[in-house]
This record gives sequence, C-alpha cells and structure tokens, in this order.
Amino acid sequence: MDLEGRRAVVTGAGSGIGRGIALTLARHGVHVMVADVETDKAEAVVREAAANGVNARSFAIDVSDPKQVAELADHAWRELGGIDILCNNAGVCASAAALEITDGDFDWQFSVNVKGVFNGMREFVSRFVEQGTPAHVVNTGSHHSIGAPTKGVAAYVGTKHAVLGLTEAFRTEYGDRIDFSVLCPGIINTGIWDAGRNRPAEFGGRFEGSEFSKQALNSFGMRPERVGELVSNGIRNRDFFIWTHPQDIELIEKRYNECREAIERQWPNGPDEEHQMTPNDVT
Ligand SMILES: NC(=O)c1ccc[n+]([C@@H]2O[C@H](COP(=O)([O-])OP(=O)(O)OC[C@H]3O[C@@H](n4cnc5c(N)ncnc54)[C@H](O)[C@@H]3O)[C@@H](O)[C@H]2O)c1
Repeated sequence: MDLEGRRAVVTGAGSGIGRGIALTLARHGVHVMVADVETDKAEAVVREAAANGVNARSFAIDVSDPKQVAELADHAWRELGGIDILCNNAGVCASAAALEITDGDFDWQFSVNVKGVFNGMREFVSRFVEQGTPAHVVNTGSHHSIGAPTKGVAAYVGTKHAVLGLTEAFRTEYGDRIDFSVLCPGIINTGIWDAGRNRPAEFGGRFEGSEFSKQALNSFGMRPERVGELVSNGIRNRDFFIWTHPQDIELIEKRYNECREAIERQWPNGPDEEHQMTPNDVT
C-alpha cells in the first residue's frame, strides 16, 4: 500500500514505538489518530505529527476495554473520514521470576497486550471488510513472540506469543481482503521499563520501573523512529513479519530445529496411515 494520503490509528502512540510509528507515518503523508491512555503525551505527538501538514488527532483510551475501542473507531472514522491502517501497539511489561508472577500482573499484561490487540482487530477488521478498500493491520508483538530469549518475563512472553497467534489466525480468515503484519521488535529505547506507571489499581496500582532496565534500553535500544521506518516499509511491501534485529533469526532457527528434530526422532516413518490428513484438508 502506498502511504501518502492514507489514514492510520496508532495505539500506545503517546511514547516509544507507537510515537515513532505515528511520527514516521505522518512524515510519509499519513493522517494519524494518536490513541493512548496518557493524554498529555498523545497531544504532544499530535502537535509534532501535524507539523508535517497532515490531519492529526488524539484519543484517550484504555485498549483493554472493548467499548472504548469501539468509540475510538467511531471517532477515527468521523474525524479522518475513514481509516486504512491500524497499528495495535499499546503494550505493557512487568518483570518477575515465573513463579513469582502475581495474578494482577498476569491479568494486566494479558488485558492490554492480548485483549487490547483482539479488541482492535475485532472492531477495525469488520469495518475494513465493510469499507472494501485496501487496509493493513500491524500488531506489535516482540522477539518474545517467537521464543523466550530472556528470563523474568514469562507472562509477557505468553502475551507476545498470543499476539503472533492472533495475527496469524486473523490473516488465515481475512487475509484475502486485508493485509496483516506482526512487528517483532528486539530491544528498543522506550519507556517500557517504566510501564508500571500505567498499571490500574485493580491490578495492583502504579509501580516503579527498574533503573537497570532503563539503562539497558538507553544503552542498547534502537531508536523508535527507526522502528517507524521499518513499519512504514513493511506496510508498503505487505510483509507479514517486520523484524528490527536480524540476529533474531537465531531464535527462529532454535525453535524450528527443535521441532524438526523432535518430529524426525518421534516419527521416523512419517504419519500413521490413518492420520495422513493435514489441517488444510479439514477446514
Ligand atoms: N521497547 C522494547 O524493547 C520493546 C520490544 C518488543 C516489543 N515492545 C512492544 O512495543 C509496544 C510499545 O511499547 P514501548 O516499548 O514503546 O513502551 P512505552 O511505554 O514507551 O509505550 C507504550 C505506550 O502504551 C501506552 N499504554 C499503556 N497501557 C495502555 C492501555 N491500556 N491503553 C492504551 N495505551 C496504553 C502507554 O501510555 C505508552 O504511551 C508494546 O506492545 C511493547 O510490548 C517493546
């Protein structure tokens, strides 16, 4: 899809990767709806985006609430005259050893990272299908979508695998009409180390991020604007996977090789005679 003149909604666009995506799209002539739970930051991004001569608006939202996502869609269609691109990017992370994860942190991460993405796809994909014009959904996963590269984030890893699974499942059903991508960032220099600033009271309330994580992101993290460029290219090229760190091929190969070796060892003669069907034969 060419970008000039398109209209996009980006969630979690008040800071970090979402901000980088929104500003890069605006530089390429895309009108943007900057949606975030942090309204001051969203409005600041709107001012920066509008400097490119595009129509830029903000919307205050908690993506985990389907009603608010429906309101976002209504607002976006009304204010921008239609939407062509949805970036389901809002996400949070809470670190803890796997056995120490609280119910609150498990539920909070799944409500934003997974339910938020599902809410966005359910609301916008149905409207995209009805609209009948080219449309693209980009869901922000992670390199944690295809492996578990670091300790201390098991629930987060679960959410990001779910983002990949949901995106692929939606593509299986609607990919003939709409393009889907899953963005799989490695380490990006954003405010995610301080995601606890947005943890609602029902999940345990606000918590301080770790200085160590902040330093790590500052030292090794890629600039979010660079991610915005990669997303713009991914939309233009209709790529399903959008990678920020080519070294993630190691994670992919590790899983692929482990699966292949297990199948070859467990099933040296291939499938049983009576179990030859593949999923494509039954759907
Ligand atoms: N930074 C990284 O290294 C990295 C790596 C892989 C994936 N990601 C993913 O990138 C996405 C963006 O995170 P980031 O790193 O830019 O962090 P960030 O904290 O800088 O930005 C996240 C944004 O989401 C917003 N947000 C949080 N909860 C929300 C909610 N319920 N509803 C609406 N908005 C909400 C925040 O206000 C913030 O503006 C997330 O999905 C994250 O999991 C980040």
